[in-house]
Amino acid sequence: MVTGAQAQSEGAGTVRSGADLPHVMILATGGTIAGTGATSTTTVGYTAAKVGVEQLIDAVPALRTVADVTGEQVFQVASENMTNTLWLKLAKRVNELLARRDVDGIVITHGTDTLEETAYFLDLVVKSNKPVVLVGAMRPSTAISADGPINLYNAVILAGSKAAAGKGVLVAMNDQFYAAREVTKANTSTVDTFRSSDLGALGYMQDSRPHFYRVPIRLHTVDTPFDVSKLDALPKVDIAYGYENVGRTAVDAFVASGDKGIVYAGVGDGSLHQDVKPALVDARKQNVVIVRGSRVGNGIVARNGEANDDQLDFVVSDTLNPQKARILLMLALTRTSDTREIQKMFQTY
Ligand code: SIN
Repeated sequence: MVTGAQAQSEGAGTVRSGADLPHVMILATGGTIAGTGATSTTTVGYTAAKVGVEQLIDAVPALRTVADVTGEQVFQVASENMTNTLWLKLAKRVNELLARRDVDGIVITHGTDTLEETAYFLDLVVKSNKPVVLVGAMRPSTAISADGPINLYNAVILAGSKAAAGKGVLVAMNDQFYAAREVTKANTSTVDTFRSSDLGALGYMQDSRPHFYRVPIRLHTVDTPFDVSKLDALPKVDIAYGYENVGRTAVDAFVASGDKGIVYAGVGDGSLHQDVKPALVDARKQNVVIVRGSRVGNGIVARNGEANDDQLDFVVSDTLNPQKARILLMLALTRTSDTREIQKMFQTY
């Protein structure tokens, strides 16, 4: 049972109305939440990114009781096709809208496959304390028990709440909400796929209001130095994966293709196979910044633990998973190529 003393919840028992309602913009980008299947039982083999934002909003009449909602279709893609170009477009639009006095918060509907990446990218580049909430669905809009409508309803309430202000970009799924930096997609197909593993959700959506139990500590949004307003591209950074018998092929290919940074998803605590380490050393000699991460998904990669990072001039990923370490490295490289500075960023954001 939740008591008032335990939870920081908002607007207990109140559903606001009319002019009192927060103005929440819903920016639609595609994904399964906007997907359609051939039948109501089709939850595999459906087509993502088909339904437009107005249809998404009209499908949940209750949205109008919790917010004054306005929809905008920013693009319409399955999120496996997300690109840096689309991210920059989205981030610029979010910053533009949040600068307006008449916008209280933003919900972004998104495919779940790369939702955690877009959320963390925005967490680092949005320049506002107003709430930004990403939401998706695991079942297409045509499915029995589609999860999109309830997820969207919860996301709109969260984005319109004062409690969510200043907490960084949030992800609302399956009656819970998470910090962008910590959340990951952890199951290929179940509706409880979004998890923050060791660190846990920030809170629950219940009774049409958010209940916060934790707040993110790492700096985000207005407290980062990353500015996308004049960027039309991001430095090229790729991820090389560690496994039994791995060789240097991927790392060498990334260097040859012009990478400015490589995240190496090492085994365990970021351990490097003896056959890949020389490739990373050679890459560093060519000024490619190397981030030593881990494929494990939980825990801190210890600096100077499984490799002598000081001597190799490598950066460690802290607790970021490889796909998020790549995002921070891209943005870091827009500011500096000094590995000491970049390491500090990995310990700060
Ligand atoms: C996608 O990520 O666009 C498809 C999968 C999903 O949204 O669940």
